[in-house]
Amino acid sequence: MCGIVGYIGSLDATQVILNGLKRLEYRGYDSAGIAVLQNEEIEIRREAGKLINLQRLIEINPLSGRIGIGHTRWATHGEPSARNAHPHLSATGDVVVVHNGIVENFLELREELSAEGVVFRSDTDTEVIVHLVERYLSSGTDLVEATRKALSLLKGAHGIVILSSREPDKIVTARIGNAGGVVIGIGDEEMYLASDLPAILEYTQRVVFLESRQMAVAYQDKLDIKTLDGKPVIFEEHQVTWDPISAEKGEYRHFMEKEIHEQARSLTDTIAGRVDIEDGHRVRLPELNLTREFAKRIDKIIIIACGTAAHAGMVGKILIERISRIPVEVDIASEFRYRDPIVDQDSVVLAISQSGETADTLAAMEEARRKGATLWSIVNVIGSQAMRSADGYISMQCGPEIGVASTKAYTAPLVDLYMLAILIGDLRGTLNDRAREQLIADLRLIPDLAGRCIEREDGIKKIAPKLMNTNHCLFLGRGINMPTAYEGALKLKEISYIHAEGYPAGEMKHGPIALIDEAMPIVVIAPKDPWYEKMFSQIEQAKARDGSVIAVASDGDELISNVADHVIWVPETPWMLSPVTTIIPLQMLAYNIAALRGLDVDQPRNLAKSVTVE
Ligand code: G6P
Repeated sequence: MCGIVGYIGSLDATQVILNGLKRLEYRGYDSAGIAVLQNEEIEIRREAGKLINLQRLIEINPLSGRIGIGHTRWATHGEPSARNAHPHLSATGDVVVVHNGIVENFLELREELSAEGVVFRSDTDTEVIVHLVERYLSSGTDLVEATRKALSLLKGAHGIVILSSREPDKIVTARIGNAGGVVIGIGDEEMYLASDLPAILEYTQRVVFLESRQMAVAYQDKLDIKTLDGKPVIFEEHQVTWDPISAEKGEYRHFMEKEIHEQARSLTDTIAGRVDIEDGHRVRLPELNLTREFAKRIDKIIIIACGTAAHAGMVGKILIERISRIPVEVDIASEFRYRDPIVDQDSVVLAISQSGETADTLAAMEEARRKGATLWSIVNVIGSQAMRSADGYISMQCGPEIGVASTKAYTAPLVDLYMLAILIGDLRGTLNDRAREQLIADLRLIPDLAGRCIEREDGIKKIAPKLMNTNHCLFLGRGINMPTAYEGALKLKEISYIHAEGYPAGEMKHGPIALIDEAMPIVVIAPKDPWYEKMFSQIEQAKARDGSVIAVASDGDELISNVADHVIWVPETPWMLSPVTTIIPLQMLAYNIAALRGLDVDQPRNLAKSVTVE
């Protein structure tokens, strides 16, 4: 969703902002704009469509300066067009704003401002903000105070960046609620502002994250942060260890392709330092702050997440229940937040989120907090809200994931949940030493097994052309690989726009079987796991109805190769970790089909990487 970049320093602001916006393209957007202070006046360029359109406009009509702000917009109020794109300028031309979030009371504010004679030039909710700031500036208040007053009138969640030609030494930014993050990068006599880390990592790795209801004033050489009520904030500077190069595509055609191929490495990183072989094969997750006493007290765990992360949670349910014998529920975050869930101080609510900024997930966490639960999170983006607001967290250690369709941020939490289950089982005494040692020995195999799946992409490339023109596809799985069916189907529909449905295989006879004919490819996930025999009989049922079966099967399974039309082979994997090796070929299948169809794999239509609105 919308991306923000700001800069104050001695570099060319236009270039820094365009570079930053380019790195935020993955978030999904439909127009873009930039405002730069040039010869003491605010100059704006805005354009509908992709960033390249804005770049062309700037080539024809250049602008340059040392301070500026930019935005990629994902339309909510008003069509994607140049006039609705951010930044929005005040009537005097002295103040300009970019904004993430929704001004929920904008109609009211718009009426009020119109009655004062303000003429609106866009259909956006954001425009009211700049007119409000202008209203206070023209009555003699300074920019910081005018912004504070304007913000006090807004309902909803917001990330805002404001610049004024009357006070050209600063950029003002604020965060209210969960409309995405605001991160400030500290350089050498320069400051960078952004909604997300990848926009600024190329320039600096020293960052400060703004909390909700905080306002920062970024000068070239200093940063001042206060709460919205004006209380000074002692802020913490973080050193981000992500390598900026890892946010580059390198030799790959798409980020998604690169991220699929990075999984052996990301799984190695997620295990590294967390398994103590010398100390009796124990798991260490220090950032979770989990004591033996609390582990014994936990009466249930509710996993909340959206999209791909929720599918990882479904695998986690089986792992935690099996290994540590605690009941686990999995709930879609947007459902959890409104269902008046039953949780208390002995419940754990575990949020899983790649971005750590998904609005529904954050709101569900707040709801859990209100009800007194302990909050944990599994997050990829360091310093994100879901990491900061939890009582304990596990970091995915994936590095930046840019492709909208999540891949490495699916397999890493599978392994994190496995380690979490072992840790809780150990602390609660549901796991004896031998069982734990076996689970850890299995865990150590997983990066290599993932690597072996990735090496087999050529086999997938042979199957992809057979599916590229299908209109529908059914994915069936059972037990620990039932979420693999959901996730495999999600990957395919997200990036190839082929209608795909994931189904628990045992439910096929209660409905989807009616769909099966020769035109319906069925992907059956049937590795050697405890549900193997049941899955085998599903293949036979599908074949009996002329269905075309693509089976994901363990190496050497002749029974399956005799009945399936195509087999995607995966190395035999300990069953609790098998969702890692079964999903990788399905990620590659979706990727190759979408690439064959010539689609925009990294930025599929209508989707956003980080969904910061409800
Ligand atoms: C969006 C993305 C999905 C992602 C979901 C949850 O819908 O397109 O790929 O799984 O958000 O995102 P999160 O950052 O919370 O994991």
